This record gives sequence, C-alpha cells and structure tokens, in this order.
Amino acid sequence: MSELRIVVVGYGLIGRQRAAALANIDGAVLVAIVDPGFDGASDMSGVPHYQTLGEIQPDDFDAAVIAVPHDLAAGLASAVLQSGRPVLVEKPLGPTAAEARKLEQLASRVSRPSFVGYNYRFLPAVSELAQAVASGSLGTLRNLDLLVGHGGHPDSAEGWKLDPERAGGGVLLDPGVHLLDLLTCLSPEARCTAITATRGFWRTGVEEDLVAIFRADRMIATVRVSHVRWINTFRIEAFGEDGYAIADGRGGNYGAMTLRIGRRWAWARPGVAGQRESEALFDYGTDNQSLAMELQSVVDVWRSAAQRTAIPRPATMAEARAVAELCEQLYEQMT
Ligand SMILES: NC(=O)c1ccc[n+]([C@@H]2O[C@H](COP(=O)([O-])OP(=O)(O)OC[C@H]3O[C@@H](n4cnc5c(N)ncnc54)[C@H](O)[C@@H]3O)[C@@H](O)[C@H]2O)c1
Repeated sequence: MSELRIVVVGYGLIGRQRAAALANIDGAVLVAIVDPGFDGASDMSGVPHYQTLGEIQPDDFDAAVIAVPHDLAAGLASAVLQSGRPVLVEKPLGPTAAEARKLEQLASRVSRPSFVGYNYRFLPAVSELAQAVASGSLGTLRNLDLLVGHGGHPDSAEGWKLDPERAGGGVLLDPGVHLLDLLTCLSPEARCTAITATRGFWRTGVEEDLVAIFRADRMIATVRVSHVRWINTFRIEAFGEDGYAIADGRGGNYGAMTLRIGRRWAWARPGVAGQRESEALFDYGTDNQSLAMELQSVVDVWRSAAQRTAIPRPATMAEARAVAELCEQLYEQMT
C-alpha cells in the first residue's frame, strides 16, 4: 500500500510537532502545510505551503491533522470530513458538545475512522498505569487523583488560549479535558459529585483553578487543574485495594516521566526495608514522544482499517464526544 498523504492544518506549537513526527512515521508522508500565519520562507523541508485549506484539492491528500485555535477547528475539520477524508483533530473535539456531536456524525460517513488528539494516553507512565488498572493487578480501584498544573508566562493572557471566546472555556476545557479523557478511560462509571473553580489572576474571565470530585461505587476521584501553579506539574495517583501506581512528570519542563508501582503493606514482608524501597520504579526520561506515538498509531489504523484495542490507543470520535459532553455538564455544575 502506498504511503498516506497527510496535510497538517495549523503550523503552530502542536502542528509543527505533528509535522516533524511524520518524517519518522511508517506509512505516511507530509504533503502540505496549511497556515495563514506561516509564509514558508523559513521552512527548508520543501513541503508545499498554503494559506487556506481551500487551495488544496481533496484528491491531493488522504487525511489531515488539524491543529488550530479551538474556534476554527470544527469548521476546518468539517471541511476535510465532507471531502471524504479522515482527521486527527487536536483536543477538544469542538468547544461545545453540540459541535462535537456534529463532527462525530460527519466522521461516521467517512470510510476511514477519525480521531482526537488525546496524546496523554501515550505517555509511557500513563499507559503503564492504565494497563495496571485495566488488568486488575491493583485490586478494586478505591481512589484516583489526577492533577495538571502550570503557571503560563507573563504574556499568556494575550493569546487565544485564555480568551474564553476563542478557546471556548478556561482550564477545565484546556488542559482539563486531557484529565477528563484519562479519568473516563480509567473509571468509565465515575460521576461528578462536586466541582468548584476560581478566577481572577489572568483577568480574562476564565476559570483558572479547579477541583472536581467524582464517585463510582467505592471509588473516589479528584481532578485538579490549575493555571496558577508556578511549577509545571502532571501527576496521576491510582490506589486499589491491593496496590498502587503513581505516574509523575510529562517530560520537558513538567519533569522526567516516572512511574512507581507498589503493593499494599509490602513493607511488612521479610527483608523489605520500607514501603518506598519495595516499589518498582520506572524512569522514562524527559523526552515526550507521545504526539508522535499517537500519530503513528492513528496512521496504522488508517492503513489497516483495524481499530486498536490494546492500551494505549488513540481516542475515537465517540470517546472525545463523550468527554465534550462531560465537560459541558461540569460547566453547568461548577460553583
Ligand atoms: N495535546 C497537547 O499536549 C496540546 C498542547 C497544546 C495545544 N494542543 C491543542 O492543539 C491545538 C492547537 O494548539 P497550538 O498550541 O498548536 O496553537 P498555536 O496558536 O501555537 O497554533 C495554531 C496555529 O493555527 C494557525 N491557524 C489559524 N487559523 C488557521 C486556519 N484558518 N487554517 C490553518 N491554520 C490556521 C495559526 O496561524 C497558528 O500557527 C489546539 O486544539 C490545542 O488545544 C494540544
């Protein structure tokens, strides 16, 4: 089978990483970049550059990666889907649940499946933790704590990401949806019992610091998202009745990715110095390859037409639509 011809629409922070990843992805080739804010003069790749998606004929590509501001993503993704091509669209899938449902519906008419960029699934510490939970090796899950925090930079409020009109919301929507996606994967039955958020530091009106509590039978979970934590932090703690897994770091300035796996009362075993000493510790370093791994996985599905079932696998339109619906419900519940 010939290589899939991919267009990257939006050549900013994430589009550039997706495009760069394509150089090393089996079975796909970057054929064009679309970005009105990029003139291509500094790009030595030789890949054709366009100002608008409309300048490319649908026959000239097989699939698109959409990595643009949230208020533009649904329109561009719809245009690609209506031409019969699948998309990998960066999270969230539409700033509202209604838009997410519309995109899911459009995607269902395309022969190849579309996906949404929930690349945290592909962080090695996260995928190992998810496998431990899914295998039951931790025992009945009793608590989950998911935290992402960052402090931005002095000009953060100038861009589209903290503009509620353009972004569609505050930290719950971005980056909170990553945690909602992971929570839904780890505990599909979890339901929100309370969510509260504060605003005011960034002065754009968005919620900037929040905690949400979820329950599923005897499992309690918290989702904590903050844009006023001055050290970038990413952590998931999963405790079952038999053991636990703690993933920390996301690479880059979020620190090295590590995973600790421990057993209940391991300290009591003969010859064990203490609970921490008993843990299996994995260090995956600071190089975050999750965007590339996710894209490779998407390309594999596009080429084979077989959905992946193993963990990690890319987020389907249905899964991302469910996250969009949950996100909307949480905005209604938020105090
Ligand atoms: N998964 C992650 O870790 C992660 C991290 C950051 C952002 N994101 C997501 O990626 C997406 C893009 O975010 P970003 O950080 O790359 O934003 P960005 O602002 O860095 O880049 C967006 C790019 O889109 C371009 N653009 C604007 N209008 C366009 C149009 N009509 N056609 C084509 N391009 C257009 C802009 O010129 C800009 O270069 C968002 O959905 C965001 O939520 C994901």
